[in-house]
Amino acid sequence: MNADHAAAPAEIREVAVVGLGIMGAGIAEVLARSGRAVVVIEANHDFLARGLARLHSSLDKAVARGRLTHAEKALIVARVRAADSIAAGARDADLAIEAVPERLDLKRAIFAELDQACRADTILATNTSSLSVTALAACTRHPDRVAGLHFFNPVPVMKLVEVISTVLTAPGTAQVLGALVRDLGKTPVEAGDRAGFVVNPLLLPYLNHAARLLETGHASREDIDKAATGGFGLPMGPLALLDLIGLDTSLSVLEALRAELGGSRYQPAPLLRRLVEAGLTGRKAGRGFYDYEPARAPAASAGDPSHNVPPAPATVALIGDPALAADLGNVLDAAGISVVRAPGPEASLIVAAAQPGRRVLDAALASGCPADVVGIHLAGRPGAKPELAELIVTDLTAPGAAAAAGALTAELGLDAVTSRDRPGFLAAAMIYPQLNDAVRMVQDGYATPPDIDTAMVLGCGYPRGPLQMLDDVRPAIVRDVLSAMHASTGDPAFAPAPLLAEHAASGTPFRCS
Ligand code: 3HC
Repeated sequence: MNADHAAAPAEIREVAVVGLGIMGAGIAEVLARSGRAVVVIEANHDFLARGLARLHSSLDKAVARGRLTHAEKALIVARVRAADSIAAGARDADLAIEAVPERLDLKRAIFAELDQACRADTILATNTSSLSVTALAACTRHPDRVAGLHFFNPVPVMKLVEVISTVLTAPGTAQVLGALVRDLGKTPVEAGDRAGFVVNPLLLPYLNHAARLLETGHASREDIDKAATGGFGLPMGPLALLDLIGLDTSLSVLEALRAELGGSRYQPAPLLRRLVEAGLTGRKAGRGFYDYEPARAPAASAGDPSHNVPPAPATVALIGDPALAADLGNVLDAAGISVVRAPGPEASLIVAAAQPGRRVLDAALASGCPADVVGIHLAGRPGAKPELAELIVTDLTAPGAAAAAGALTAELGLDAVTSRDRPGFLAAAMIYPQLNDAVRMVQDGYATPPDIDTAMVLGCGYPRGPLQMLDDVRPAIVRDVLSAMHASTGDPAFAPAPLLAEHAASGTPFRCS
């Protein structure tokens, strides 16, 4: 066979990994663990040393947890060798994976070098988060053997790999990569070459929105993260996740998404940009939204308001949405707190059973004593025991009433977050726009509901995918909250997608199961 038209190698035995940052080190680790020879290539000696140290420490952790023996670790390490140039390291590779920072000029230069150094049948893959795989393929002589292979952080843990084919990728190339991914114990999801593929256009705008909620004073850093974990069962909150991914990487991905897809959801929050400018790029820098240097993290002081929690009120007046008030009344009754149905002298706190699509302020004004009113919304899976209470303070709520509501939820044994009185409150305001984005992706014909759900479950550790969440909450409820968010902000990104409006009207779920 003419070397210029050689088919992709049927088996991947040796892999060159170019760039040994967080992702490159993780990719090298999983490949070496699978028994393959791995050449790690870094031009910068400091980066190489740091990347190898990261790989070793990840293996050490596995040994400490009893997942790996010392002998197995030694075998894995022996499969990894370092090279300081592509010419020296990629010559014999069946597959070369580029994992350098998200700059198209840099990635193009690396692809041009790989094209010169590698065999004609070597598959060239990029771990880009959002740049055009086609643009990289176009600077090689064998674009049919170029594809995207997008891993998720932390690579040893997350089970998803997106396999991206361009219009030039040969089907055989994607097949070999799909088989490799399965052999690594992960699940491939095939995607077309569109900015961010399946996961990032859903994940990054949600993370960005959380940063914006923090900078506009909608809620505190801790409450934003707690609303995502407690309200929707996500494995970590959005600000902690930004710190894990890296704020600089997140910013580049958002910029690439904005350049290709447009729209306010991808417009980076100024706070995100400022933190990057300050070098506070997250865990890898020791500080991002959170501080990872224990000595610098502020300790709770005696003046901390949480040390002076008032007693929970013995009697509360319950107002607001009748169905939600009945649910909340049951929870209060079960805790032995007496409930009256109208404001009066016996109740020191007025609780408005709050609906995420409606303003608490309206119920507060109607009560005649708005300073005493706090909205409470119980968040969690429909039909299941509530896991989180959202406390909604209006512009007129007195500080004492907010503190009493906090004491009340503590008495109920519920975790609580405090939100401003905006449509969606906190948990729904963060998550429902992501569900809408997922519907838009289906509407565009880019991915199917099962593929999107699989990608978010395996790539981001979601307990259920966004379309399953949407069905569980019900499309009509999500539509109503989004409509209220759209009306109050004027931001077209929050307008319910036409396909969501259709499902809401017909009552048809997105998932068949
Ligand atoms: N490297 C290797 N292993 C790690 C690890 C790391 N950095 N972090 C955690 N682990 C392992 C632990 O060793 C443990 O393994 P074991 O069960 O075999 O003992 C397991 O993961 C669970 O770890 P922990 O109990 O310490 O931690 P948690 O239960 O809190 O889970 C988490 C940590 C896996 C990070 C979880 O919080 C999670 O799934 N978070 C979501 C992460 C996510 O969304 N990733 C995708 C980001 S988007 C992306 O990468 C794309 C890019 O293009 C932007």
